[in-house]
Amino acid sequence: MNSQTFRRIQIQRTGPAQVMELNNVEFEPLNPDEVRVRLTRIGINFSEINFRWGRYGFAPAQFPYTPGIEGVGRIEAIGSEVDGLTIGDRVVMAAGGANQMYSEAVQVKATTIVPLPDTISDEVAAAIALKGLMARSLLLDVRRVAPGDTVLVHGATGGVSIILAQWAKHLGATVIGTVGHRSKVAAASAAGCETVLVREDGHFIEALNRVTDNKGVAVVYDPLGAETIQESFLALQRRGTVVSYGNTSGIVKAVDPLWLTRSSLYFTRPMLHDFITNNDQRRASAAELFGLVEAGIIKPAIAEVMPLARVVQAHELVETRRAIGAVVLAT
Ligand SMILES: NC(=O)c1ccc[n+]([C@@H]2O[C@H](COP(=O)([O-])OP(=O)(O)OC[C@H]3O[C@@H](n4cnc5c(N)ncnc54)[C@H](OP(=O)(O)O)[C@@H]3O)[C@@H](O)[C@H]2O)c1
Repeated sequence: MNSQTFRRIQIQRTGPAQVMELNNVEFEPLNPDEVRVRLTRIGINFSEINFRWGRYGFAPAQFPYTPGIEGVGRIEAIGSEVDGLTIGDRVVMAAGGANQMYSEAVQVKATTIVPLPDTISDEVAAAIALKGLMARSLLLDVRRVAPGDTVLVHGATGGVSIILAQWAKHLGATVIGTVGHRSKVAAASAAGCETVLVREDGHFIEALNRVTDNKGVAVVYDPLGAETIQESFLALQRRGTVVSYGNTSGIVKAVDPLWLTRSSLYFTRPMLHDFITNNDQRRASAAELFGLVEAGIIKPAIAEVMPLARVVQAHELVETRRAIGAVVLAT
């Protein structure tokens, strides 16, 4: 490999994890508004699995496709029109503008770059940047959680949820978590869930009713999709909100407006890029997130760090639901 080439994951067709290949590619010329970042750590996000399987649809022209929306590294080249950044700066890219991160290097618009404070390691940044910004938006932008609210966090040990649970508790909410398997109860409790319901035990609604004295919760945060969506509405108190933001168990095909008439319920399907629309917002939100990590309020959970060359195993770890917190790739 010479200095004009680097390695990146490419997929030529949709399918199982094995469609991901580590290939040598050449750098494109750097545009004046871009920087080149030599990546050290890359966060895995579930949407990459959905894209890989073709669940969101793909045009053949998009191949070869390189996944990745969350990366950390150092700036190694700067375009002629870029101000305010220096070679050697530690930076993180997430939440808009970050693509093709399953790579040893990326060239991105300087306006997508967030500087990384010394207090946050590369590994932690790759584990929490996008997921933490999502958790923040879910709690503060999508539907502001207030002290005294009771919220239900599905899949409470997942990458987003494990941050969301800690942050919700910090905001003064009572957090009830669900997990798919008993082995995850301790991690969900440690993340701030006052009660943890195990969904494999059967319908969690009866258990939730017992815990809330039949009152239900103000907000359900649902990253699971197909498995839980219908019951999520049954978990709500009057005028409560289902926030469906993911589909790890399968894509939600339909939501019936009649479900909302049970007690004037709300339903929303937020996307992070509609809440973080520019780099000032991204930097400000990241500063809030990093501040909570520095204060020890959010404790990052890293399931495993694996070399980029083992991306197949890393995806399999996520898909088999064995990860607690984030899986991170190292270049
Ligand atoms: N809308 C947005 O802008 C946005 C932004 C970020 C993330 N997301 C989405 O949010 C969701 C959660 O992201 P994440 O990074 O937190 O995901 P994650 O950590 O990979 O998974 C979250 C949880 O999903 C549960 N799960 C249920 N069925 C599963 C299955 N068949 N395969 C794998 N996991 C399954 C697992 O919990 P249990 O075993 O406890 O059930 C797992 O811990 C994803 O769908 C992601 O795409 C959306």
